[in-house]
Order: sequence, then C-alpha cells, then structure tokens
Amino acid sequence: MTSTDWVKWHEAYGREGSGLGDRLAAVQAQIVRRLDDTAPMPLRVVSACAGDGRDLLGALAGRADADRVSAFLVECNTELATRAESAALALPARIVVHEGNAAKSDVYAGSVPADLVLLCGIFGNISDPDIQRVIRAAPQLCAKGAEVVWTRHRGGESDVTLQIRSWFADAGFEEVAFIAPDSADTWSVGVHRLVGPVADLELGQEWFRFFR
Ligand SMILES: C[S@@+](CC[C@H](N)C(=O)[O-])C[C@H]1O[C@@H](n2cnc3c(N)ncnc32)[C@H](O)[C@@H]1O
Repeated sequence: MTSTDWVKWHEAYGREGSGLGDRLAAVQAQIVRRLDDTAPMPLRVVSACAGDGRDLLGALAGRADADRVSAFLVECNTELATRAESAALALPARIVVHEGNAAKSDVYAGSVPADLVLLCGIFGNISDPDIQRVIRAAPQLCAKGAEVVWTRHRGGESDVTLQIRSWFADAGFEEVAFIAPDSADTWSVGVHRLVGPVADLELGQEWFRFFR
C-alpha cells in the first residue's frame, strides 16, 4: 500500500525544528475548538490515515468530556495502529482503530457520518487528481455541518493549497480556518465545514493511492 517507513516518519514529531510539532499543535487546537463548539453533544470522529492517532488522542487526553466522543481511526501500518489502540485504552472515549486501507470507501461503512473528519498527512502524499477525488468524496463521510481538518505542505511551486481550498468550496464546504505560518515552516492546516448537502457513502470506491 505504501513503502515509506511511517514509524520513522513519526519520530520527526519529537525533533526540534521539524515543524511537525507546531503542525500537530495547530491540528489539536482545531479539534479542541470543535469539541468546545459542540459540547455537550456527542461527537463522532473519523480519522483517515490516522498514524498513531496522536492528534485526536492527544487532544482528548486533556478533556473531562472525552466520553462524549466516538471515533473511527483507519491506519494501514500495524505498529502505528497498535500504538493508537494502546493510547485509546487510557481514554473514556469509544475509539475503534481499524487496521486497513483508508482509501477504500467500504472501510467507512457503518462508521459514518462523522461530525469531525481528520485528513491529516494525506494531501502531501497523493496526486492532485487524488486530492480532488478525496475532497469530492468528503461529504460522504460528513454529517450535516461536519468539519474536515486537513494538512498540506506549501513547498514553492508545489503549493496547491489555494486549489485545495477552492476544491473544498466546489464540494459544498465553507472555510473555517486556514493556518499557514509566516516562517520557514511550510506546513499548513485547513478546516472546512460542510454547508452543502450530505451524501450517501458510495461503496466500492478507491479514492487515493500514496506515491511512496
Ligand atoms: C504522513 S502520515 C500521517 C499520520 C497522521 N495522520 C498524522 O498526521 O500524524 C501518513 C499515514 O498514512 C498511513 N497510510 C498510507 N496509506 C494508507 C492507506 N491507504 N490506508 C491507511 N493508512 C495509510 C501511513 O501508514 C502513515 O501512518
């Protein structure tokens, strides 16, 4: 499915100056905001290509109301999925970590719609047509008014964040936030809310493939 050593990739979270720590803080701030905005209602979360789940699980770790959250995390790497599962055990939230292919629509059957969809660490690893395909399909993962949190680096000519933001608009989303530090760091975090119609999950689809 992917040949990159994603366990090693996660080590950069602890490395000074990698930018990943700041990106994580920005993602978690958006998760916390969504939790606050929806309190005390239940919150359903889906995270595609969740890695070790540190964004959601870390945000929930500090919350007294984590028990109103149910989440479905999809990750293909066994070690990372196992780590996410262990971290989830410490939380009162109902977290399911599914080891599988997040690109296949069938994997989400029974676990959507969600009120918060995390698409973090995906758009920098797939082609532009695949990014567009994922965004077009995003309403299938979303409940009415759901928010999608996504990330993408902004490296020079390969900065497609403007297009990504317009593709979200085309797919029925309004922009809630776009965080792009004015520094040497090239990460960005976007948040889009579904204002258009929700869509039924279309089974049998494959939305993306990682380059490497
Ligand atoms: C860049 S990392 C991002 C991890 C996490 N979302 C984060 O932001 O920290 C990409 C992750 O996607 C996983 N991955 C790649 N292709 C996948 C697929 N088709 N289905 C599920 N997980 C996949 C990798 O194993 C890796 O953990």
